[in-house]
Parts: sequence; structure tokens; C-alpha cells
Amino acid sequence: MMDATQPDDPGADWREHAFDLTRGIAAYTDNPLVAGLARIIANHPNADIGNAFNHKQVACKMWARDKLLESGDGSFRRIWILGGWYGVLAAMFFDDSRFDIEAIDSIDIDPAVAAVAETLNRPAGERFHALTADMYALDYGAARPDLVINTSCEHIADVRGWLDLLPKGTQVLLQSNDYFSEPTHINCVASLEAFEQLAGLAELRFSGSLPMKKYTRFMLIGMV
Ligand SMILES: C[S@@+](CC[C@H](N)C(=O)[O-])C[C@H]1O[C@@H](n2cnc3c(N)ncnc32)[C@H](O)[C@@H]1O
Repeated sequence: MMDATQPDDPGADWREHAFDLTRGIAAYTDNPLVAGLARIIANHPNADIGNAFNHKQVACKMWARDKLLESGDGSFRRIWILGGWYGVLAAMFFDDSRFDIEAIDSIDIDPAVAAVAETLNRPAGERFHALTADMYALDYGAARPDLVINTSCEHIADVRGWLDLLPKGTQVLLQSNDYFSEPTHINCVASLEAFEQLAGLAELRFSGSLPMKKYTRFMLIGMV
């Protein structure tokens, strides 16, 4: 029997509240990224955006931006973000005036995520593209991105095999973690040293750990 005090579709009710709230926060802060989150809630009800934009994911990506700036000048012609999911990191780069970035491509093997990433990054116009592709099947030599980012190393089986596809001297930013209990993590590392060994970068500009409540995130910035 229906309970008259409960909405018919609690999910729809929650989405309406979340949409109103994010649109209000976007108006109050005049922030295009938050407006993008509101668009996702309205137009992509199945996107797991609360997971992709939770405070831990955001902290890891703010850490990436800060350390990248410390290790260079923040100017890039073309950044490739692999395993880019809903394009949150790309949106955070476009939202950060410390960077001068001509274009970002967010590339993911999951065909369901490109439309969401495009919705989030709509204000970037032609400076942003979301592509559906396997990172092992890309022609890195032809495209020559000047920075390749992979914050999903725990999700791919052969990190070194993938890095071998990049032209020597390509700048990379890599993240992994020791969150072994998460079922989708097929290649976690137990320590920062283990991650350094796995990646075997020719030049290391930054290597560090960010402790979270349930796991530690590791990051390397350098050249292949
Ligand atoms: C859960 S998400 C991202 C997690 C990570 N902490 C982050 O936010 O950067 C991992 C993404 O990697 C993608 N992925 C896994 N294997 C891939 C591959 N071979 N090529 C491209 N994308 C891949 C998945 O489809 C998924 O969207």
C-alpha cells in the first residue's frame, strides 16, 4: 500500500532538491563548474556524479593542480586526461585561473561518460572534447599532448605497458592508491615507493602521498 506522506519516486524528489540547491549555489558563487553539476543532475539522472565530485575526489584533484603548478608554469597547449570519467578534473582546470590551457581532451573507455563530461564542460566550448577510447589504443606520437594525466592507474592492468606507448620525454601526472578493498581497483599499489617502481619514470619532478580516511593516494609528476 502507498504511504501518502512519501513521494512516488524518491529519486526524482532528491534530484529536484539537488538541482535547485546546486543551481542556487552556482548563482550565488557565479561558478560555471557548479552550474555544470546542476546541468548533470537535470540531464543525466543515472550519472554517479556525487561519487565523482565527493570531497575526497575533489581533494585529490586540487592536490594534483597545486603540485603541477609547483613543478611548472601552468601553461599547456593540449592536455590529455585518461580514464577521465565525467570530466571533473578538466572542469577543475578550466575553473582555475592560475592555468593557461589551450585545450583538454578527456578520454574514457566507458561510452556512457562522454556525454556527461561534455555537459559539465560546456562553457569551455571547442577547448574541451570528451572521447570514448581505450587508452592502450591511442596514437600518442601523432597527437603529441604536452601533458598526459592518468589519475585512474588503480583501474588499469599494466601501467608500465601503457606508459611505454608515450613518446620519450612526455610529461605525465599519475595517481594511484592503496584502496585494495574497492572491487573496481584492479591494480592498487601498497606504497609510494611501489608506485615509483611500477611507473619507472625517466625523470621525477614530484612524488608524494595524500592520506585519506580509508586509503592513501599517491602521485607522481615527471617525464617518461
Ligand atoms: C572510477 S574512474 C576514476 C577514478 C579516479 N580516482 C579519478 O577520479 O580519476 C576510472 C575510469 O577509468 C576508466 N578506464 C578504465 N580502463 C580504461 C582504459 N583502458 N582506457 C580508458 N579509460 C579507462 C573507467 O571507464 C572509469 O571511468
